[in-house]
Amino acid sequence: MPLDIVIGAQWGDEGKGRVVDLLADMSDLVARVNGGDNAGHTVTVGKKIYKLHLIPSGIIHANTIGVMGSGMVLNPLTLVDEIEMLRKAEVEISPERLWISDAAHLITPLHRLMDQAKESALGKAQIGTTGRGIGPAYTDKAARRGLRVGEILDSAGFDERAREHFQELGRQLVEWYGQPAKNLDDLMENFLEKAQELRPFIRRIGPLVRSSLNENKVILVEGAQGALLDIDQGTYPYVTSSFTTAGGVPNALGVGLYPARKIIGVVKAFQTRVGAGTFPTELDGDIAGHLRGTGKNPWDEFGTTTGRPRRVGWLDLVLLRYAHEVNGFTELFITKLDVLSGLDEIQVCTRYQRNGLELDSLDFSGDARSLATCEPRYESLPGWKEDLRGCRAFEDLPEAARNYIRFIEDQTQVQVKYVSVGPERTDLIMRE
Ligand code: IMP
Repeated sequence: MPLDIVIGAQWGDEGKGRVVDLLADMSDLVARVNGGDNAGHTVTVGKKIYKLHLIPSGIIHANTIGVMGSGMVLNPLTLVDEIEMLRKAEVEISPERLWISDAAHLITPLHRLMDQAKESALGKAQIGTTGRGIGPAYTDKAARRGLRVGEILDSAGFDERAREHFQELGRQLVEWYGQPAKNLDDLMENFLEKAQELRPFIRRIGPLVRSSLNENKVILVEGAQGALLDIDQGTYPYVTSSFTTAGGVPNALGVGLYPARKIIGVVKAFQTRVGAGTFPTELDGDIAGHLRGTGKNPWDEFGTTTGRPRRVGWLDLVLLRYAHEVNGFTELFITKLDVLSGLDEIQVCTRYQRNGLELDSLDFSGDARSLATCEPRYESLPGWKEDLRGCRAFEDLPEAARNYIRFIEDQTQVQVKYVSVGPERTDLIMRE
């Protein structure tokens, strides 16, 4: 059963690229199944830093085939740029190495404009989206009027449908959002041209993935965003518009209820969030500055996709236990433990208090309004001063850092198999 799934266990940006990079070496297929270019996966290999938004990041390993599943929404403009960027970096991108599902949906420039117009119209109630057109593309998908990747293969029909889409959304921008009417011809021509460049990669991926699994090939799924941003299980309405949890994976690959071998929950050693929405353990001040970093390093807490400073806070174990409930993690990967070095004490949220009652798990499905009524309750753990970057075995960590990891295991009842202690590929502890 060689299906391994990597899931962000928080609000995204947990450092999933790290574990994917490690496991892709031992995988045959690497797949993205949800979201679009709202995601940003950074992988550092030696001096090279790859920033990918759409193509599964495991494709930088020469042994893999990249699969883009039906749950994704793809902007042809970004995708074509990303293909070019990878080719320039001497990563082979050919139709044999990249399969794009014909059932995935397209994001058009009008979806982007619509995303931005909707957000400004929301004023204070903004979701804080990435502005990449994600919500409007999934809206069209659910309303059964979306443009699917497979339609590109019928150029004349596709041009016609795209024209209707541009006209319709162009009209809505003017009539619903009071925007000045624009000539959309150039935007549309460019979109149509880039969409045609995807033609060689378009596949019906279900049969390909199923036969790969039958041949015992290893499939690694790179979940995008995080469990708490899932449209059903996340902190609704401050979520993205796709299934970010493990449950969405088999459907997006067209393989039925295929059981996973591993479901790896990636957890940052503290909590971060971009965009709006309830964040019970959020911090400001010096400790927030310590956790966020200055923004000078690519691994500091500033969005890969938008450059926005991320909101930061203490690790929230109530939410982590919830993420485990809705994903069924088989193991955890803790990232950025090194960032906690230098703090005298570390707080960890282990329970919430609501209406005088203590809760150690959520009695609701994510819902942001209910979450806002919960007060975090913390346990304080001793910090450590040592730099962790040289640690390669669990025993190399200072005692307080080992206790921190054991505390997470105890509280979640999931084994921590990996701990990252620095930005380089080799700054990693693997535990048996
Ligand atoms: P959208 O996905 O652009 O519609 O944004 C919806 C919410 O999800 C916003 O709060 C975004 O900041 C958040 N979001 C979307 N993609 C990511 C990601 O890759 N990492 C972290 N947050 C994300």
